[in-house]
Amino acid sequence: MKPRRRTAFFCSQCGNGSPSWSGRCEACGSWNTIVEEPVQEGAGRPGGGSGRKAEAVPIDDIPAGDGERIPTGIPELDRVLGGGLFRGSMALLGGEPGIGKSTLMLQLSHFLAAAGETVLYATAEESPGQVANRARRIGCTGNSVLVLPATRLEDIEDALGRTGAGILVVDSIQTVYSEALSSGPGSVAQVRHCASELMRLTKPGGRTSLLVGHVTKDGTLAGPRVLEHLVDTVMSFEGDSNRSHRLLRALKNRFGPSNELGIFEMTQHGLTGIAEASAFFLGRRLEDLPGSVVCTVMEGTRPFLVEIQALTSPTRYGFPQRSANGIDSRRLPMLLAVLEKRCGLELGAQDVYVNVAGGATLADPGADLAICLAVASSRLERSLPAGLAVAAEVGLGGELRPVSGFDRRLREARTLGFNLFAACRDDCAEEDKALRGHSTLCGCIEDILAPRGRRGGEADS
Ligand code: TYD
Ligand code: MG
Repeated sequence: MKPRRRTAFFCSQCGNGSPSWSGRCEACGSWNTIVEEPVQEGAGRPGGGSGRKAEAVPIDDIPAGDGERIPTGIPELDRVLGGGLFRGSMALLGGEPGIGKSTLMLQLSHFLAAAGETVLYATAEESPGQVANRARRIGCTGNSVLVLPATRLEDIEDALGRTGAGILVVDSIQTVYSEALSSGPGSVAQVRHCASELMRLTKPGGRTSLLVGHVTKDGTLAGPRVLEHLVDTVMSFEGDSNRSHRLLRALKNRFGPSNELGIFEMTQHGLTGIAEASAFFLGRRLEDLPGSVVCTVMEGTRPFLVEIQALTSPTRYGFPQRSANGIDSRRLPMLLAVLEKRCGLELGAQDVYVNVAGGATLADPGADLAICLAVASSRLERSLPAGLAVAAEVGLGGELRPVSGFDRRLREARTLGFNLFAACRDDCAEEDKALRGHSTLCGCIEDILAPRGRRGGEADS
């Protein structure tokens, strides 16, 4: 009997379903995101109907079962995944077009196939010829990666059965559709249905799958948020198309720490990992320049050094400009207000520009002190002492707060020849003279940016 077709309404932002149309999604609050889509009774219920009843087991009786991790052959990717790809997991890789998702998946497939895995690479966006050309260009040849041109989910299912592949790559989930639904590829219902079907096809057999996903203009993963809930790992590939470096972040990871960062460079021969992140980001730094501060940041468990630059210049027309690149743009006005109110730095008639050199994007609040010092340094036209790196969060009261991973930041700074370190007092060993412990932003600025000759005085109390 042909299944009965009916329609339902879904939010294209978060995937929430509702029986009727409305202008605003009740679940996520987005406007004009509800779309009508055909659904089928019984479709898209992953793993349903096995008939076996679930049993509750005492927690101590459950074997530890720390699953197997497959090294991907790409150390930066292994770092983001928390030590390799977890066998039987499903990962989602999101990113803007042209950022290098297909390249990364191809390199990964190449390494895994060379390590003896059967890899099925389902390409729904590019022809097998295009994939093969890229593989030749970046030297991913001489392997046994199976390339499947497929946009139909049923074809992928078929190929999985025939090849017995243990690793499945789907590039991309938005271009795959299932015949079970009448809506088009990329629609909320299709993306959700295809992902949960793929989960059903791979997980029980211990197969590992990687889905490539597109992001919308505002940077969130296109398709329903439900996709993010469904998969085990969500990675986001970011970068500026005008620069060669790319940042890979784990936004969610059921098998490792989230927020872990991998750094790559896009070269002629594909993506190469950058293990020496600090040296990469500090590469072109000019010393003794007012407005330039070296900051130690932590992204996940990885410490690295970046240069934060600020420029203040008198406002000539209208309102003072505030511009932030690489940091949270809402945080800058707050830090400027603290500098004005707590430290008496006059910024009301100044344009302020802050930039993270090298194009890194920072989420670490430990960059606060560096931002404040950079602005003060530019405003006062005084440079910081050579060899100084800083890390502290700044509160609204102008107080400095300790940062996470202090020891690791300090070690990284010293490895790169930064032997002075300004941070919050709580974390500083008294006997360590190279550490300048401070409890207030004001005291820190006075100590570090004092006119030459007066420097090196006591830290504030
Ligand atoms: P691609 O992996 O196709 O991106 P996505 O799948 O995320 O859309 O990468 C495309 C870009 O990368 C393209 O602009 C060309 C560039 N590129 C290189 O610079 N070097 C290379 O070796 C490869 C394969 C691509
Ligand atoms: Mg692609």
